[in-house]
Amino acid sequence: MHRPLIIAPSILAADFAKLGEEVRAVDAAGADWIHVDVMDGHFVPNISIGPEVVKALRAHTKKTLDVHLMIAPCDPYLEAFATAGADIITVHVEAGPHVHRSLQAVRGLGKKAGVTMNPGTPAESVAPVIDLVDLILVMSVNPGFGGQKFIAGALDKIGRVRALAGGRPIDIEIDGGITPALAAEVTRAGANVLVAGSAVFKDRTAQSYRKNIAAIRQAAALARGEAA
Ligand code: DX5
Ligand code: ZN
Repeated sequence: MHRPLIIAPSILAADFAKLGEEVRAVDAAGADWIHVDVMDGHFVPNISIGPEVVKALRAHTKKTLDVHLMIAPCDPYLEAFATAGADIITVHVEAGPHVHRSLQAVRGLGKKAGVTMNPGTPAESVAPVIDLVDLILVMSVNPGFGGQKFIAGALDKIGRVRALAGGRPIDIEIDGGITPALAAEVTRAGANVLVAGSAVFKDRTAQSYRKNIAAIRQAAALARGEAA
């Protein structure tokens, strides 16, 4: 099962004072999806944005809004993010005791469901819900902040979740510390959706976004044996 290569810039590293403009810039610069990090200051030690911001951003792009919920509990907010225009909603296995219920709720809202786990949580934690998900996100940093260093154990974990997914049409996404050099490694390990915050937004110019996205895509495409 060869899933398409997807590059998803994380707007956590964008200029929050001009988020609409930043989303339009990475959209035009070749982003496939827009990765939106939602943090509550409780599940993770940082606060970012909520459904109103997702709603406002929806007007700035037609691309897939890939919403990563780092909040606990998540169930009370799923409908708000769905209504706001999220296309994929990913929840953490650690966010509550009833992960099947959360994923069923996401699908019931007509959205794609993703599941993820912190670096300290085993890959096998997603096995019980494998038939309820469209995407598995492997966190390669402890969630909460952009610009952290990639945790090497994530490579092995990608292989494990890829094996768990078997022939199912499930995207394997990697998030945290991705650079063009690591893009090749995570792709070889089996990831097909690459999130990148700092590596895309680092130079803060629209021209650099195109170059940065292309560098990640090229490294990953090469590792897949495809022309970029
Ligand atoms: C971390 C977030 C990531 C982060 C990625 O909590 O889930 O999406 O923004 O940023 P970089 O690529 O800078 O590690
Ligand atoms: Zn994320």
